[in-house]
Amino acid sequence: MEPNADDALKIAALGHDIERAIEEQKVIRKDYISYDDFKKAHALNSAKILKEIMVECNVGKELINDVFFLVSSHETGGNRRVDVLRDADTISFFHVNLPYYSVRNDAEETKVRCLWGYNKLSDNLKKVVANFRYKDKEIEFILREVVDFPGH
Ligand SMILES: [Fe+2]
Repeated sequence: MEPNADDALKIAALGHDIERAIEEQKVIRKDYISYDDFKKAHALNSAKILKEIMVECNVGKELINDVFFLVSSHETGGNRRVDVLRDADTISFFHVNLPYYSVRNDAEETKVRCLWGYNKLSDNLKKVVANFRYKDKEIEFILREVVDFPGH
């Protein structure tokens, strides 16, 4: 989505979910009332972990701060560069993660997660996701419900 991405954006794209790979540090959904609060904590936690790694690797302060901002905002967006990261991440959920998510969660939770992601997308990217097709009929059904859901 950004062929000429700068170093900070590339590092953020690679490491934005890093906290999920560290079992003893990752945030847990049930510890947060709202999904947005959970996602905010997840983004901040990943940003802190990446910062620690970059400090250890003697990365310059400016690059560290830039990556910290991008990763801590990757679920919500906020400016052009972080919106690219958010959009790539959101598209990737539908393109790659959704079949795995639906195995770990029931149909209702999967639909809620799809609606949450779909509503973050611009109209152009909604059209891209609306054209995705899945082998799994249940996922296909959920996505049709999300795309046809009134109000977006
Ligand atoms: Fe994330």
